[in-house]
Parts: sequence; structure tokens; C-alpha cells
Amino acid sequence: MEPKTVIITGANSGIGKAAAKQIAAQGHRVVLACRNMERAKAAQREIGGYSLTAQLDLAQRASIHAFTDWVHRELGKADAVISNAADFDLSQKQRVFTPDGFERIWFTNHLGPVLLIDRLMDLLIASPQGRILTVSSKGLLMHPFLTVNLNDPMFNDRPYSVPKAYYQSKLAQSMFTNWLAKQLTGTMVTANCIRVTNVKLDLNRFPDIPQWMKNLYAIKALFAIPPEKMATIYARAALDPALKNENGRLIEYPLKTCDFPPYEKDPLCIEQVMRLTYRQLGINPAITYETGSN
Ligand SMILES: NC(=O)c1ccc[n+]([C@@H]2O[C@H](COP(=O)([O-])OP(=O)(O)OC[C@H]3O[C@@H](n4cnc5c(N)ncnc54)[C@H](OP(=O)(O)O)[C@@H]3O)[C@@H](O)[C@H]2O)c1
Repeated sequence: MEPKTVIITGANSGIGKAAAKQIAAQGHRVVLACRNMERAKAAQREIGGYSLTAQLDLAQRASIHAFTDWVHRELGKADAVISNAADFDLSQKQRVFTPDGFERIWFTNHLGPVLLIDRLMDLLIASPQGRILTVSSKGLLMHPFLTVNLNDPMFNDRPYSVPKAYYQSKLAQSMFTNWLAKQLTGTMVTANCIRVTNVKLDLNRFPDIPQWMKNLYAIKALFAIPPEKMATIYARAALDPALKNENGRLIEYPLKTCDFPPYEKDPLCIEQVMRLTYRQLGINPAITYETGSN
């Protein structure tokens, strides 16, 4: 297989790092796009191969611009983007805002990744077979009635909860994936969403969480798979030729592709979420598919 250039956000720990290691071991160029550069450099030393690090803070529009400019300037290529990073700080209790005034989870986990992928779209389209992979959570199955609150996605006028904000952002990412899959009709680029199951977390990353939460996560860990196992799905979704025709699908561990639940694939709901998304970002989409074109 020709070496590919694969960008993984949040690749300094957990599943992202394990995926970077597996992809680099297959001889591909992997970009660890990370907020914490100290951890990114440590991960790069562990991964070896043709891995690179680059600064990317998905909570900051300026950082997303600087990163995508760097990719264009220094690499000029992107065959796959794995939008893995997510803001889920177990010690967070109150709403936190980005420097641009957005609720941080909504921006980091949804608006930021949309902006990132939008600004890399030209490179993905130029690739012989570009692949966009977003990451959602199997935990969404526990919230079957959750929807993206179109009037108040940033909890201005309703009680704030970190899990609600997190799952809302994951729902929006699923819908973004479905929307992308449609917009990309007629191109060689595919968009799929990896639905991550219960994966062992490194609790050292959250030193400030209370003891009861540590106990809860210790129990959860008994049923969790190691990041390396989940990462095999990331690597296959990014590279496996057998998956090249999968588009607009959920990909799960162990390897299985399936359809999205009804709300996440509802065309009207998707349109509303994406209209809100681009309005909040204040940009027009880099790619739009007109019905009847092709
Ligand atoms: N573990 C699970 O059971 C589980 C279940 C369902 C879904 N998921 C999803 O799987 C993905 C990977 O999770 P994981 O378990 O590997 O967790 P993890 O080890 O905590 O990794 C999260 C990564 O996201 C990065 N990140 C957070 N905020 C960021 C920002 N503003 N800009 C750039 N990077 C940022 C973190 O970087 P820093 O080092 O800078 O903090 C870290 O590298 C996430 O999308 C998560 O929602 C995980």
C-alpha cells in the first residue's frame, strides 16, 4: 500500500495514541495533532516511525487555522483525518467558555472538528481516496431521547450538565458525518463515524476527580477494552481497502459497520444541525452537494 498521510487529533493518549502507533507501524506518515505538546512529544518518541507532532487546540479557532495552514504549507497532503480528540474533563462542573465565547464542549467536540475538516477538505478531495472519520460514543445508546438543542446548544437558558453537553456534541458529530457523506457524493472521499465502546481511560489524566468517581471508573474499567483494541478499528477505518466503499456508516468494535439510529440520519434534523453549525462558525461549507448535480 502507498504510504498515506493520516492526521489524528488528540493522539497523545488513549485510543488516538494507540491508533497512531498502529498506523505508523504500517509505514504511514502520522500527524499527532495535539493540544498538550509535551505529551505529544512523549507519544511521538514511543510511536517512532514516520510520526510528526503539531500543535492543535480544538477549543481555539486561531489554533485550528494555524494547524490547517501548517498542513497545507508543510505537508501538502491529507489522506485521512481521524477526529478523535474530545473534551470530557471528569472534574469539570461549571460551564467553561472558549476564548471566542463558545461553550467549550460544544466548540471542542463539534464546531472545532467541523472547522478543521472543512479547512482540510481540498487536501482530502485531492487524495486518491480520502477518508474522514469522526468519533462518537456507544454511551449515546443510554440517551435515546437526546437531541441537539437547536435553540440552546450552549446551555444559556437551561441547566448545564457535562454529560449532556458531551453527548449532545457527539450526536452533532454523527449528524455531521451523515451530512458530509451526502455532500461528498461524486468525490472519492468517504465520511464515517467510529462509535467507541467502553475503553479503559488513564485516570492519571484527571488527578482532581473525587474518590467516588475514581471508584465508579474502576468498576467501569472491569468491563472496558484496552485502547489498543479500539485503535484497531481506527486503523482499519482509515486504511483498509476493504472499507473503501463504506460511506455514511457507523463503525464499531469488533469490526462491524451499521446504520445510524433514526434521529442521527434524519435529513431534516441533519440539515437544521448543520445550518446552526455553519451559522455559528460564520463560514460557508467548503463542499456542498446540489441535488441533481453529479
Ligand atoms: N474511553 C471511552 O470509554 C470512550 C467512550 C466513548 C467515546 N470515547 C471517545 O473516544 C475518543 C478518545 O478518547 P480516549 O478514551 O482515548 O480519551 P483520552 O485518552 O482522554 O484522549 C482524549 C484526547 O483529546 C484531547 N483533547 C481534549 N481537549 C482538546 C482540545 N481542546 N484540543 C485538542 N485536543 C484535545 C486530549 O488532549 P490533552 O492531552 O491536551 O488533554 C487527549 O489527547 C474521544 O472522542 C472520546 O469521546 C471514549
